[in-house]
Amino acid sequence: MRVLSHREIGREVYWLSVADFESKLFESIWPIPRGVNYNAYLVGDGGEYLLIDSAKKFVEARELVELIGRVVDTGKVKHIAVLHTEPDHSGLVAEASSLLGNPVVYLTSKAALLMKRLFGIDTKVLKDDDSLKVGNRLLRVVELPWVHRPDTMFLYLQDEGVLFSSDAFGAFGALEDPRFDSEVDFDLYLESAKKYFATVVAKYRRLVLQDLEKLRKLELNVRTIAPAHGIVLRDRVRDFTQALVSWCELRKTSKVTVVYGSMYGFTELIANFASDQLRYRVQSVVSHDVSNDNVVNILSDVADSAGVLFLVPTYEAEAFPPMVNLVDLIRLKRLGEGKLAAVFLTKLWGSAEVEQMTAKLEAAGFEIYAPAMELVNFPTEEELEGIRGFLKDFCEKFSEGI
Ligand code: FEO
Repeated sequence: MRVLSHREIGREVYWLSVADFESKLFESIWPIPRGVNYNAYLVGDGGEYLLIDSAKKFVEARELVELIGRVVDTGKVKHIAVLHTEPDHSGLVAEASSLLGNPVVYLTSKAALLMKRLFGIDTKVLKDDDSLKVGNRLLRVVELPWVHRPDTMFLYLQDEGVLFSSDAFGAFGALEDPRFDSEVDFDLYLESAKKYFATVVAKYRRLVLQDLEKLRKLELNVRTIAPAHGIVLRDRVRDFTQALVSWCELRKTSKVTVVYGSMYGFTELIANFASDQLRYRVQSVVSHDVSNDNVVNILSDVADSAGVLFLVPTYEAEAFPPMVNLVDLIRLKRLGEGKLAAVFLTKLWGSAEVEQMTAKLEAAGFEIYAPAMELVNFPTEEELEGIRGFLKDFCEKFSEGI
């Protein structure tokens, strides 16, 4: 299912919402059971309009132009701005541009090269601090490379204080209708935004912090944030910004994420025992089955945990492949930094799995707590006592400094 709708978010400022309930994966990697939204915007004045971004090519350019036509006279769209070139926002620009009578397409210099290579279209380059004029209205260009791609700019509509923020300030989840932050369960929405952060933005989080600092120094009077995914923020701009900063800093909470693989249920039993023990010692314990849980949820929980316990079965004398894949994704997103990891290895035979897992976890940025505990089947009472002591010391170690 797809839903194309629109909403006015300011004087002659319109949100064009393209809700994608069809795609099962974002970037062909991340499961998105609740879909995702692609947001484009229109800004008008004096009988001319600027289109900001488009949508992924799961809809036709004709459908986007029809949506624009429900709001304004399409012949009056004189400018298009591409905030970055990833095709979930730029994918319809070339065809839409043609249907709209070839308005001027504006973007950053890096984006210009990429748009030429991707879609063969010529564009006009904007630089940091340039202004884009629509009638008598001014949109200030703020180049903010590496929100997660090198070619990103934001636009700031000065008279209304609207910041068009590309992929930053976004979230997963398709919208049946365009909603403001005051019209949703905001805590639930932040959960969805954290999942989006952990999978799309996390790797470049230090650069995002620099970008936020640059925005702060510009002393813009931002009253509305209009992102490329998710909802438009008005009342909770400060709350969202604080949450984003805490995620970018990988701020730890008194939380442990337990991740286990289990082919026949033995390792799951140990994971359940370990989770019960951890609940005595930390505020929050979440447990994930690496084979069956959504990897987006696992990464999101790892992001703000102080410790992560990996329960890893052996598989043909190597570490359980789904766990190896998970740790590789954690490494890719650099989510292990500053966190303590412990490993329980469940095995009948083999020898090199501990070294394999330790090397992987270190590459992912984790500090490794103690040598891995090796277990066969469900532990004896004596071994259970050993696990209790291990987890007590593990929690004490990472609790320092939280
Ligand atoms: Fe939502 Fe980087 O595209």
